[in-house]
Amino acid sequence: YLRQRVIRRGLLRRGLLHRGFYTRGFLRRGLLRRRLLTSEVLRRSSYINVVFLFQFILGPMGNPLFSVHDNLSPVVSVEQNFDSLLIPPDHPSRKKGDNYYINRTTMLRAHTSAHQRELVSAGLDAFLLAGDVYRRDEIDCSHYPVFHQMEGVRLFSNHELFSAVEGGELLSLFEPNGRRTPQKQEEHSLEAVKLLEFNLKSTLTSLIQQLFSPEVELRWVDCFFPFTHPSFELEVLFRGQWMEVLGCGVMEQRILRSAGAEHKLGWAFGLGLERLAMVLFDIPDIRLFWSRDERFLEQFRGGDLHRPISFKPLSKFPSLHNDISFWLPESGSFSQNDFFDLVRSVGGDLVEQVTRVDQFTHPKTGRSSECYRIVYRHMERTLTQQEVKQTHERIESAAESQLGVRGRY
Ligand code: PHE
Repeated sequence: YLRQRVIRRGLLRRGLLHRGFYTRGFLRRGLLRRRLLTSEVLRRSSYINVVFLFQFILGPMGNPLFSVHDNLSPVVSVEQNFDSLLIPPDHPSRKKGDNYYINRTTMLRAHTSAHQRELVSAGLDAFLLAGDVYRRDEIDCSHYPVFHQMEGVRLFSNHELFSAVEGGELLSLFEPNGRRTPQKQEEHSLEAVKLLEFNLKSTLTSLIQQLFSPEVELRWVDCFFPFTHPSFELEVLFRGQWMEVLGCGVMEQRILRSAGAEHKLGWAFGLGLERLAMVLFDIPDIRLFWSRDERFLEQFRGGDLHRPISFKPLSKFPSLHNDISFWLPESGSFSQNDFFDLVRSVGGDLVEQVTRVDQFTHPKTGRSSECYRIVYRHMERTLTQQEVKQTHERIESAAESQLGVRGRY
């Protein structure tokens, strides 16, 4: 906690948090302050449980195999967040509109994978890394610009992977003149990749079964990440819907090589902790993770990690909504995520959802206008019309002065 304060103060003093594109409103006033609160719910429940379950995987000395890291600064270089993971320069995930860049070379990490290379370089073979990650995104009950991920990485030497297999000493991790196929990378042997994939999938399946129940319905979906191949997503059937809970895969050998672990093979996964906790405990809205309301938090207190937490949802207080319509600037400079950021920075956690309800282009002048519905709800009490009106008017005038739109009120 203290370390985080120091980091933050240091950054403020060095002016890092004042410059740049998105540091003005939300970032400076709200977003980074979140780090000082840290989600109590995650601390008490899912985060600890996930780590706890991994502690059962023992290494050769009978000690927990995975080391746990949760104090790495969320301020990373663009190189760490993207280049170190082989994400190409023109990749859509680098968009300014989706990330919190502090300046050209520095940003708030968009995923915990940003630290893969540095921890492998430090010599770690099996680690878990939990932390806050930042993305500019839409506004609804499951999206919030800061959330938490947990990354897991495990590397294997030839001996570690094959020693349990009969005749395994004859097998090799690598295949000198191989080709890249949908199943494997060029330098890997198929038998090594299949064993690794089996280990990855069975580790994660048992994690999810422990967290949900042994009967939970799961499915693996092939997918693509620039830093793993092959790559998979794990989906869980929850209340009749398939829900993605994690991404994972066999680490790209180029990354291991750049981290000095070229003689090993590895798998990595990244899971969203709020997502998991929302499902496990029936938490209806992601903003509740930042609640200071004891009626909510006390349910997550208590020492015994074996005792499952059965969360009783707070009844929701009524919501109010107000629409806002405006003409877009003719320069074409309007971006939806800028507007969402502005609504967050002025409306704070009162804003539950923002949706575009109408779009219109004037047939003669060619000017476009858009209309958004803002849903306001307080997590802990009933809002008054008057309160909402004040906030809404502040959003209207901030939109006009900061985004160059012209209100149609
Ligand atoms: N970093 C990926 C994400 O945020 C998840 C991931 C981690 C995928 C590790 C593969 C390996 O979506």
